[in-house]
Amino acid sequence: MLPSALSVDPCTRRIPFTMSSVPSTSAGPIIEAENLTKIYAAGRVRVVAVHDVSVAIEPGEFVAIVGPSGSGKSTLFYLLGGLTRATEGRILIDGTDFATLNDAARTRLRRHRIGFVFQKFNLLPTLSAMGNIEIAYTISGRKEPMDRQYLDHLSELLSIKGRLKHLPSELSGGEQQRVAIARALIARPAIVLADEPTGNLDTKNSGAVLEMLARSNRELCQTTLMITHNPEAAAIAGRILHIRDGQIMREEKGLRTTPGSQTASA
Ligand SMILES: Nc1ncnc2c1ncn2[C@@H]1O[C@H](COP(=O)(O)OP(=O)(O)OP(=O)(O)O)[C@@H](O)[C@H]1O
Ligand SMILES: [Mg+2]
Repeated sequence: MLPSALSVDPCTRRIPFTMSSVPSTSAGPIIEAENLTKIYAAGRVRVVAVHDVSVAIEPGEFVAIVGPSGSGKSTLFYLLGGLTRATEGRILIDGTDFATLNDAARTRLRRHRIGFVFQKFNLLPTLSAMGNIEIAYTISGRKEPMDRQYLDHLSELLSIKGRLKHLPSELSGGEQQRVAIARALIARPAIVLADEPTGNLDTKNSGAVLEMLARSNRELCQTTLMITHNPEAAAIAGRILHIRDGQIMREEKGLRTTPGSQTASA
């Protein structure tokens, strides 16, 4: 059975944010980046990795950022996830400007509001799949106990139910990535940021992981931003932003229909 909270249309409601130190807005983009620039400087060498990028991601959207190697995708990912500071420009997460927060508050906001999925899975090797999911929930800082029914639902959705007691080393790459997605989703973040989530997977497992991201967007209305160099992977999103030389060059529609849009069929 689905948790009751999921029986209403998940896209029409936002999960209330209870952490008092960081206010939540009920409307507006989940992420709003304005004129972001990131310059890496090592000695005399300056690399403009991201140049004057503005992007807004609305609740329920599935956005892909696609571009060739070195185009600035990971840098943009780190900026949007608050993992690195912008040289210029600003980033609002759920209405909160990262730049106004000290390091501790930034970390709290990130843990509470963003679910990360990385190319190399980054599961803790000494913990079972379940342990990895539980510790992510604990770190998220949520006061209420982890919703076991929701975990059951996620495990079904991600087809990892029978694998939760295993260590990462006992799981296939595809399974590890699906556990990493469950770990990212368990605290119901405002947004999931995924950097090359299929980069270490074969074609079959890539397809399964992409399908899981698409399902979590469709069925849980999980706002998702995926970074990829693969145009085929990007096509499953609702909106595709093409990045080159640190700049968003163009935008196109993907296969996914955005909730509330006229053409939506999901
Ligand atoms: N820490 C750093 N110091 C200096 N230059 C960097 C640093 N990190 C990235 N760069 C440079 O910034 C540019 C963008 O790098 P980035 O990692 O964002 O690209 P990417 O699109 O993610 O590439 P890939 O597909 O290979 O992962 C590249 O020219 C890269 O060499
Ligand atoms: Mg990269």
